Amino acid sequence: MRVVVCGGAGYIGSHMVRKLIEAGHTPVIFDNMSTGHQWALAEAFKGAEAKNIQPVVVSGDVLNMADLENLFEKNQADAVMHFSARSLVSESVQKPDLYYHGILVGSLNLLAAANRARVDKFIFSSTAAVYGTPDQTPIEENCPARPITPYGHATRMVEMILEDYAQAQGLKSVALRYFNAAGADPDGGLGEDHTPETHLIPNVLKAILGQTPPLEIFGNDYPTPDGTCIRDYVYVGDVAQAHLLALNYLNSQPEPGFSAFNIGSGKGFSVLEVMAAAERVTGQWVPYAFAHRRQGDPPVLVASAEKAKKTLGWNPEIPSLDEIIRTAWRWFSRRAQPS
Ligand SMILES: NC(=O)c1ccc[n+]([C@@H]2O[C@H](COP(=O)([O-])OP(=O)(O)OC[C@H]3O[C@@H](n4cnc5c(N)ncnc54)[C@H](O)[C@@H]3O)[C@@H](O)[C@H]2O)c1
Repeated sequence: MRVVVCGGAGYIGSHMVRKLIEAGHTPVIFDNMSTGHQWALAEAFKGAEAKNIQPVVVSGDVLNMADLENLFEKNQADAVMHFSARSLVSESVQKPDLYYHGILVGSLNLLAAANRARVDKFIFSSTAAVYGTPDQTPIEENCPARPITPYGHATRMVEMILEDYAQAQGLKSVALRYFNAAGADPDGGLGEDHTPETHLIPNVLKAILGQTPPLEIFGNDYPTPDGTCIRDYVYVGDVAQAHLLALNYLNSQPEPGFSAFNIGSGKGFSVLEVMAAAERVTGQWVPYAFAHRRQGDPPVLVASAEKAKKTLGWNPEIPSLDEIIRTAWRWFSRRAQPS
């Protein structure tokens, strides 16, 4: 299949591009490189030649309809994967306009251009943030979606749009609600490189490497056993694998429709537990200091991924937190070495 990967030069998108090539599909990357990396594309393409696959890269912005029309005019596509959005929860609280505009207009444009090109399969990068502060944990997909940030609201709205487009445009779509994607490709070339970096595991490892000041822990007075927030960490390669399975699922669906799946490990770890795991893996102390809570952080977010396991056949390859951190540590320590 030829699969448009919007945001394919980013962290999760580049792992997706590699996974598509491994599975024999041709990725068509569409990216404005605002947070993406050329090196990530070069790495992701490494196995393509051996498989006789020619990945395509199209430079453009989902906020620009002409760019999208150009993408679909020049490239036949069977499906679209949409990773191209800003995802800083606190920033979305400060700048809601940026998030509503970027996520809603970007997604509407992409859906319109894909519809015009008669592409009827769409996989959307959703988030645990659609649940807000959940009443129960682990969170199942039928728990009420009550986002508490503009990022969560806008992402949930896109899910609702996808649901409506099944009726109106015959769209077959899946929203994968990722919890905290983490880790790096075990072969070394691909990994996480966000600026600014807000994710915990990279920040723990950077603090160990002395690349940043001591780790700031945002809040130690949450209603959790050690007072720090609890999150569910899922290996980035397993997130990509979930997309591949979602693609198979959409191919097997005779009728238009929309489904949402949680993508998480089903286990929760507090910030202090993640630090302890990083210390086990690296054999080094994490320098840290407590800071005030951040806006928009629920105390506990842990997925039930039973629906993805049952319906998609998803089975995480690296479910252990220590192993996930080990892949990230290999990536960060290798990059820290002078070349
Ligand atoms: N990383 C996580 O843990 C996580 C968790 C939940 C949801 N998500 C969602 O997954 C998606 C990917 O996350 P990521 O961590 O890989 O992010 P990322 O910033 O590494 O990648 C995003 C990619 O999209 C591109 N992009 C951004 N805006 C664009 C635009 N207007 N037009 C074209 N390209 C654009 C960027 O250049 C980049 O290559 C995001 O939508 C995010 O909300 C991520």
